[in-house]
Amino acid sequence: MLKFVVMSDLHVMPQGELSMTLDTGARLEQAVDAVIARYGDADFCVLAGDLADLGQPAAYRRLKAIIARLPIPVHITLGNHDHRPSFLSVFGDHFVAETGKIDKIIDIKGYRIILLDSSEPGRVDGVLTQAQIAWLKARLAEAADRPVIVILHHNANALHIESDNIAILDPEAFIQALKTHPDIRQVIAGHVHLTSTATWRGLSFTTLSGNHYSCSVDQPHIPMRRLAGPGQMAFIIADADSTTVLFDDYIDGNDEIFLED
Ligand SMILES: [Fe+2]
Repeated sequence: MLKFVVMSDLHVMPQGELSMTLDTGARLEQAVDAVIARYGDADFCVLAGDLADLGQPAAYRRLKAIIARLPIPVHITLGNHDHRPSFLSVFGDHFVAETGKIDKIIDIKGYRIILLDSSEPGRVDGVLTQAQIAWLKARLAEAADRPVIVILHHNANALHIESDNIAILDPEAFIQALKTHPDIRQVIAGHVHLTSTATWRGLSFTTLSGNHYSCSVDQPHIPMRRLAGPGQMAFIIADADSTTVLFDDYIDGNDEIFLED
Protein backbone atom coordinates (compact mmCIF):
# COMPACT_ATOMS: atom_id res chain seq x y z
CA MET A 1 0.00 0.00 0.00
CA LEU A 2 1.37 3.39 -0.99
CA LYS A 3 1.06 6.02 1.74
CA PHE A 4 2.27 9.59 1.56
CA VAL A 5 1.69 13.01 3.07
CA VAL A 6 1.13 16.28 1.19
CA MET A 7 1.77 19.58 2.94
CA SER A 8 1.23 22.91 1.23
CA ASP A 9 1.34 26.65 1.81
CA LEU A 10 3.86 26.51 4.61
CA HIS A 11 4.54 30.27 4.28
CA VAL A 12 7.52 30.04 6.62
CA MET A 13 9.04 33.31 7.82
CA PRO A 14 12.45 33.88 9.40
CA GLN A 15 12.62 33.08 13.11
CA GLY A 16 10.62 35.60 15.18
CA GLU A 17 8.55 36.97 12.27
CA LEU A 18 4.82 36.36 11.74
CA SER A 19 2.70 36.12 8.59
CA MET A 20 -0.92 37.30 8.82
CA THR A 21 -0.53 37.23 12.62
CA LEU A 22 0.47 33.52 12.48
CA ASP A 23 3.77 31.92 13.46
CA THR A 24 3.92 29.71 10.40
CA GLY A 25 7.23 28.16 11.41
CA ALA A 26 5.74 27.04 14.73
CA ARG A 27 2.70 25.70 12.87
CA LEU A 28 5.00 23.70 10.59
CA GLU A 29 6.70 22.28 13.68
CA GLN A 30 3.25 21.01 14.72
CA ALA A 31 2.80 19.44 11.27
CA VAL A 32 6.13 17.66 11.61
CA ASP A 33 5.12 16.46 15.07
CA ALA A 34 1.90 15.07 13.56
CA VAL A 35 3.82 13.17 10.87
CA ILE A 36 6.15 11.71 13.49
CA ALA A 37 3.18 10.69 15.64
CA ARG A 38 0.88 9.35 12.93
CA TYR A 39 2.62 8.82 9.59
CA GLY A 40 6.08 7.58 10.41
CA ASP A 41 5.47 4.58 8.15
CA ALA A 42 4.50 6.72 5.13
CA ASP A 43 6.67 6.41 2.04
CA PHE A 44 7.40 10.13 1.66
CA CYS A 45 6.15 13.68 2.15
CA VAL A 46 5.52 16.27 -0.58
CA LEU A 47 5.78 20.02 0.02
CA ALA A 48 3.50 21.55 -2.63
CA GLY A 49 4.73 25.12 -2.75
CA ASP A 50 4.47 28.47 -1.00
CA LEU A 51 7.26 27.17 1.19
CA ALA A 52 8.48 30.63 2.24
CA ASP A 53 6.04 33.50 2.64
CA LEU A 54 8.32 36.20 1.23
CA GLY A 55 10.97 33.99 -0.34
CA GLN A 56 13.86 35.06 1.87
CA PRO A 57 16.91 32.77 2.20
CA ALA A 58 16.52 32.97 6.00
CA ALA A 59 13.02 31.52 5.69
CA TYR A 60 14.29 28.65 3.53
CA ARG A 61 17.03 27.98 6.07
CA ARG A 62 14.42 27.83 8.83
CA LEU A 63 12.25 25.54 6.69
CA LYS A 64 15.20 23.24 6.05
CA ALA A 65 15.93 22.99 9.75
CA ILE A 66 12.30 22.22 10.62
CA ILE A 67 11.77 19.51 7.98
CA ALA A 68 15.06 17.86 8.91
CA ARG A 69 13.05 16.28 11.75
CA LEU A 70 10.74 14.49 9.29
CA PRO A 71 11.35 10.72 9.50
CA ILE A 72 10.47 10.12 5.82
CA PRO A 73 11.89 11.38 2.49
CA VAL A 74 10.74 14.85 1.40
CA HIS A 75 10.00 15.93 -2.18
CA ILE A 76 9.51 19.58 -3.03
CA THR A 77 8.00 21.89 -5.62
CA LEU A 78 7.36 25.64 -5.53
CA GLY A 79 4.44 28.11 -5.38
CA ASN A 80 3.88 31.75 -6.22
CA HIS A 81 5.26 33.00 -2.90
CA ASP A 82 8.54 31.21 -3.47
CA HIS A 83 11.71 32.73 -4.88
CA ARG A 84 13.46 30.10 -6.96
CA PRO A 85 17.04 31.46 -6.67
CA SER A 86 16.70 31.82 -2.89
CA PHE A 87 15.26 28.32 -2.60
CA LEU A 88 18.09 26.86 -4.68
CA SER A 89 20.71 28.78 -2.71
CA VAL A 90 19.61 26.90 0.40
CA PHE A 91 18.42 23.54 -0.96
CA GLY A 92 20.78 23.08 -3.93
CA ASP A 93 20.68 23.21 -7.73
CA HIS A 94 19.98 19.47 -8.02
CA PHE A 95 16.28 20.32 -7.52
CA VAL A 96 16.15 21.83 -11.02
CA ALA A 97 14.68 19.47 -13.65
CA GLU A 98 15.45 19.50 -17.37
CA THR A 99 12.49 21.87 -17.75
CA GLY A 100 14.39 24.53 -15.80
CA LYS A 101 11.82 24.38 -12.99
CA ILE A 102 11.40 22.33 -9.81
CA ASP A 103 9.64 19.33 -11.37
CA LYS A 104 10.09 15.70 -10.33
CA ILE A 105 8.86 12.15 -10.83
CA ILE A 106 8.63 9.57 -8.05
CA ASP A 107 8.13 5.92 -9.07
CA ILE A 108 7.00 3.84 -6.13
CA LYS A 109 4.78 0.84 -5.37
CA GLY A 110 3.25 0.67 -8.85
CA TYR A 111 2.49 4.41 -9.04
CA ARG A 112 4.10 7.36 -10.75
CA ILE A 113 3.84 10.62 -8.79
CA ILE A 114 4.57 13.76 -10.81
CA LEU A 115 5.42 17.10 -9.17
CA LEU A 116 5.02 20.19 -11.36
CA ASP A 117 6.36 23.64 -10.51
CA SER A 118 3.54 26.01 -11.50
CA SER A 119 5.25 29.11 -10.10
CA GLU A 120 6.34 31.83 -12.52
CA PRO A 121 8.46 34.78 -11.38
CA GLY A 122 6.44 37.97 -11.03
CA ARG A 123 3.07 36.22 -11.26
CA VAL A 124 0.54 35.14 -8.64
CA ASP A 125 -1.36 32.85 -10.96
CA GLY A 126 0.14 29.59 -12.18
CA VAL A 127 2.02 28.88 -15.39
CA LEU A 128 3.03 25.56 -16.90
CA THR A 129 5.50 26.28 -19.71
CA GLN A 130 5.51 24.55 -23.08
CA ALA A 131 8.64 22.71 -21.93
CA GLN A 132 6.80 21.47 -18.86
CA ILE A 133 3.77 20.33 -20.87
CA ALA A 134 6.08 18.41 -23.23
CA TRP A 135 7.94 16.92 -20.24
CA LEU A 136 4.64 15.97 -18.60
CA LYS A 137 3.41 14.20 -21.75
CA ALA A 138 6.67 12.26 -22.01
CA ARG A 139 6.58 11.23 -18.33
CA LEU A 140 2.94 10.17 -18.68
CA ALA A 141 3.72 8.12 -21.79
CA GLU A 142 6.45 6.25 -19.89
CA ALA A 143 3.90 5.36 -17.20
CA ALA A 144 0.97 4.37 -19.42
CA ASP A 145 0.74 1.04 -17.56
CA ARG A 146 0.50 2.59 -14.08
CA PRO A 147 -1.77 4.93 -12.15
CA VAL A 148 -0.49 8.51 -11.83
CA ILE A 149 -1.00 11.22 -9.23
CA VAL A 150 -0.06 14.80 -10.17
CA ILE A 151 0.81 17.35 -7.48
CA LEU A 152 1.38 21.05 -8.13
CA HIS A 153 0.85 24.30 -6.26
CA HIS A 154 -1.87 26.00 -8.31
CA ASN A 155 -5.36 24.63 -8.82
CA ALA A 156 -6.34 24.13 -12.46
CA ASN A 157 -10.09 23.93 -11.87
CA ALA A 158 -12.34 26.82 -10.86
CA LEU A 159 -13.64 26.58 -7.28
CA HIS A 160 -16.21 29.36 -7.75
CA ILE A 161 -14.43 31.56 -5.22
CA GLU A 162 -12.76 34.96 -5.26
CA SER A 163 -9.33 33.54 -6.06
CA ASP A 164 -10.37 31.74 -9.25
CA ASN A 165 -8.56 34.50 -11.15
CA ILE A 166 -5.20 33.31 -9.80
CA ALA A 167 -5.51 29.62 -10.72
CA ILE A 168 -3.51 28.04 -13.58
CA LEU A 169 -3.47 30.73 -16.27
CA ASP A 170 -4.19 28.44 -19.22
CA PRO A 171 -5.37 25.05 -18.01
CA GLU A 172 -6.31 23.70 -21.44
CA ALA A 173 -2.83 22.47 -22.39
CA PHE A 174 -2.50 20.88 -18.95
CA ILE A 175 -5.86 19.09 -19.30
CA GLN A 176 -5.00 17.89 -22.78
CA ALA A 177 -1.70 16.50 -21.54
CA LEU A 178 -3.40 14.70 -18.64
CA LYS A 179 -5.95 13.27 -21.07
CA THR A 180 -3.16 11.39 -22.87
CA HIS A 181 -2.95 9.04 -19.87
CA PRO A 182 -5.66 6.46 -19.10
CA ASP A 183 -5.41 6.43 -15.31
CA ILE A 184 -4.81 9.84 -13.66
CA ARG A 185 -6.05 9.17 -10.13
CA GLN A 186 -5.79 12.66 -8.61
CA VAL A 187 -4.54 16.17 -9.31
CA ILE A 188 -3.65 17.61 -5.90
CA ALA A 189 -2.96 21.31 -5.28
CA GLY A 190 -2.69 23.89 -2.51
CA HIS A 191 -2.73 27.64 -3.23
CA VAL A 192 -6.38 28.35 -2.37
CA HIS A 193 -5.95 27.69 1.39
CA LEU A 194 -9.17 25.71 1.23
CA THR A 195 -10.22 22.06 1.26
CA SER A 196 -12.05 20.98 -1.90
CA THR A 197 -12.67 18.01 -4.12
CA ALA A 198 -14.02 18.23 -7.65
CA THR A 199 -14.34 16.46 -10.94
CA TRP A 200 -13.75 18.50 -14.07
CA ARG A 201 -13.32 17.30 -17.62
CA GLY A 202 -13.43 13.74 -16.31
CA LEU A 203 -10.51 14.22 -13.91
CA SER A 204 -10.41 14.34 -10.09
CA PHE A 205 -9.05 17.47 -8.43
CA THR A 206 -8.31 18.05 -4.75
CA THR A 207 -7.03 21.06 -2.82
CA LEU A 208 -5.87 21.06 0.78
CA SER A 209 -6.02 23.93 3.19
CA GLY A 210 -2.34 23.89 4.14
CA ASN A 211 -0.26 25.38 6.95
CA HIS A 212 -1.21 29.06 6.68
CA TYR A 213 -4.58 30.77 7.24
CA SER A 214 -7.57 29.13 5.56
CA CYS A 215 -10.23 30.90 3.52
CA SER A 216 -13.91 30.99 4.44
CA VAL A 217 -16.39 29.58 1.94
CA ASP A 218 -19.53 31.21 3.33
CA GLN A 219 -19.32 34.34 1.18
CA PRO A 220 -17.37 33.15 -1.82
CA HIS A 221 -17.90 36.11 -4.12
CA ILE A 222 -17.09 38.94 -1.73
CA PRO A 223 -13.72 39.49 -0.07
CA MET A 224 -12.92 36.30 1.77
CA ARG A 225 -12.46 36.04 5.51
CA ARG A 226 -9.17 34.61 6.68
CA LEU A 227 -9.44 31.97 9.40
CA ALA A 228 -6.67 30.90 11.75
CA GLY A 229 -7.43 27.23 11.27
CA PRO A 230 -7.24 24.53 10.34
CA GLY A 231 -3.62 23.76 9.74
CA GLN A 232 -4.15 20.86 7.40
CA MET A 233 -2.18 18.20 5.56
CA ALA A 234 -3.44 15.50 3.21
CA PHE A 235 -2.69 11.81 3.69
CA ILE A 236 -2.96 9.64 0.60
CA ILE A 237 -3.49 5.87 0.76
CA ALA A 238 -3.35 4.11 -2.59
CA ASP A 239 -3.19 0.67 -4.14
CA ALA A 240 -3.93 -0.82 -7.55
CA ASP A 241 -7.64 -0.09 -7.57
CA SER A 242 -8.15 2.70 -5.04
CA THR A 243 -6.74 6.14 -4.29
CA THR A 244 -8.00 7.80 -1.10
CA VAL A 245 -7.23 11.31 0.15
CA LEU A 246 -7.74 11.93 3.88
CA PHE A 247 -7.37 15.33 5.53
CA ASP A 248 -5.58 15.71 8.85
CA ASP A 249 -6.24 18.97 10.71
CA TYR A 250 -3.17 19.13 12.88
CA ILE A 251 -4.28 22.58 14.06
CA ASP A 252 -7.92 23.32 14.84
CA GLY A 253 -9.45 26.75 15.22
CA ASN A 254 -11.73 28.91 13.13
CA ASP A 255 -11.13 32.32 14.65
CA GLU A 256 -11.26 35.09 12.07
CA ILE A 257 -8.04 37.03 11.57
CA PHE A 258 -8.30 40.82 11.73
CA LEU A 259 -5.32 42.70 10.32
CA GLU A 260 -4.32 46.16 11.49
CA ASP A 261 -4.16 48.78 8.71
FE1 LIG B 1 -0.33 30.11 -0.12
